[in-house]
Amino acid sequence: QNSTEHWRPAVHFSPTKNWTNDPNGLIFFKGYYHLFFQHNPQGNDWGNMSWGHARTKDLLHWEELPLAIPHGEEFIFSGCVVWDKDHVSGLGDPKKELLVAIYTADYPNKKQEQHLAYSNDEGLTWKKYDHNPILDIQLLNFRDPNIIWHEASKQYVMSIAKPLERSVQFYGSKNLLKWDLLSEFSNQGELEMIWECPSLVELPIEGREKESKWVLFNSSQGVQKGFVGMQYFVGEFNGKTFTNENSSDTKLFVDFGKDFYAAIPFYNTPEKEVLWLAWALSWQYAKEQPTNPWKGQMSSVRKLSLVDTQDGLRLKQVFQPDFNQMEPTFMAKDISISKPKVVNGFKMLQGKSYMIDVEVEETNADRWGLKWQSVDNPQEYTLVAFDEIKKQWFIDRSHSGKILSPGFFKVDSAPWVEGRSRHMRVWVDHSMLELLAQDGTVAISSLRFPVSAKENLTIFSDKGKLDLKQITIWEVK
Ligand code: FRU
Repeated sequence: QNSTEHWRPAVHFSPTKNWTNDPNGLIFFKGYYHLFFQHNPQGNDWGNMSWGHARTKDLLHWEELPLAIPHGEEFIFSGCVVWDKDHVSGLGDPKKELLVAIYTADYPNKKQEQHLAYSNDEGLTWKKYDHNPILDIQLLNFRDPNIIWHEASKQYVMSIAKPLERSVQFYGSKNLLKWDLLSEFSNQGELEMIWECPSLVELPIEGREKESKWVLFNSSQGVQKGFVGMQYFVGEFNGKTFTNENSSDTKLFVDFGKDFYAAIPFYNTPEKEVLWLAWALSWQYAKEQPTNPWKGQMSSVRKLSLVDTQDGLRLKQVFQPDFNQMEPTFMAKDISISKPKVVNGFKMLQGKSYMIDVEVEETNADRWGLKWQSVDNPQEYTLVAFDEIKKQWFIDRSHSGKILSPGFFKVDSAPWVEGRSRHMRVWVDHSMLELLAQDGTVAISSLRFPVSAKENLTIFSDKGKLDLKQITIWEVK
């Protein structure tokens, strides 16, 4: 069988071999960002669910570590890790630092209950708690606990999903072992599909000093309905109840690509900033990812905040680490385009990982953007672009090479955000394309699997002129 390593992202995490889905237990601890992940240690498909483990210091170089939490009779589903700084749980060696993992134990077709495991060696090895479960409401579907420390009410707060009921429950605890129901949030936003992987965070509002809001996220899938993605609610959390400040039928989506799912925030970040990453694949066609010996990868790490728009507060995501602080590989100013153009700096990008940032001065074109096209087969191409007529950002992978299921075929598009400039930043890492446009208020993440080995990158404008302020490229080595 031919190698598929050319599709493996270079700086985004993927396991050396075998299957992964959701990121789990994201935590910054002693200089490392830890990633645990849904993993099948025995095969390249979903099954034998256990927690894999990797870590990075700089968010670019990942080091895969031994399997962290193996399954037993129970599958180890998604969950989180917190630092029990004051040893409130009383578990483990009181003289050593303690990490506590709380996750869903899935007894296939029987029930899902919440279990705890702890580690005294920075997450390398884990001991399952002797008195599991720590939370059980006798439900077949009850999963994906995510925990924060809520300073105002001096307690740990867990968000957890009742998927079929499209609801999130909040529980409070002082010792991570005993959990009391605080409230339940449901019947709002996108309700057609099941809810999974909730998380609650407090986000700063850009340009409004010291102001913040609480945001509740969840992932929704309904493979039959053709949509898989993440939604969010903006509002207040008072230590007991989350209140959505928008009308109950307002639907806010995190990313308009299909390959961004189950993101959760990192616990204990250095500056208390909210960072997260997602599983960069979709339940619609995950089985068909044409790679071997691994399947599944993680998105970039992104920093979250809220910004004012004319429709209200909206999510903003910024790629981490911050490339603006790094020396670009290429930069050009004041370029005017009327027919497809290979900008000088594009030529050296063949087969590499890079970030490309495009700022537009003005345009009268119908469509403009970036095009990757096969050298040998012009019918094979991918577009990351803006449609001025429809006022939509889009990634078109309908001719991008290997097409997976029909769900893969569609063009992923996102609405223009009024009041922000024509700007896009694309992270290209082999099979991964992540677009953060208009300063990160628009997100589309999509995979693609080009068949031909060589492709040209051009910038194009259809039926009109495109005046660029600046193009910047950072190659990631
Ligand atoms: C989301 C999910 C979670 C579950 C895990 C199982 O992608 O379905 O709800 O915990 O995957 O692997």
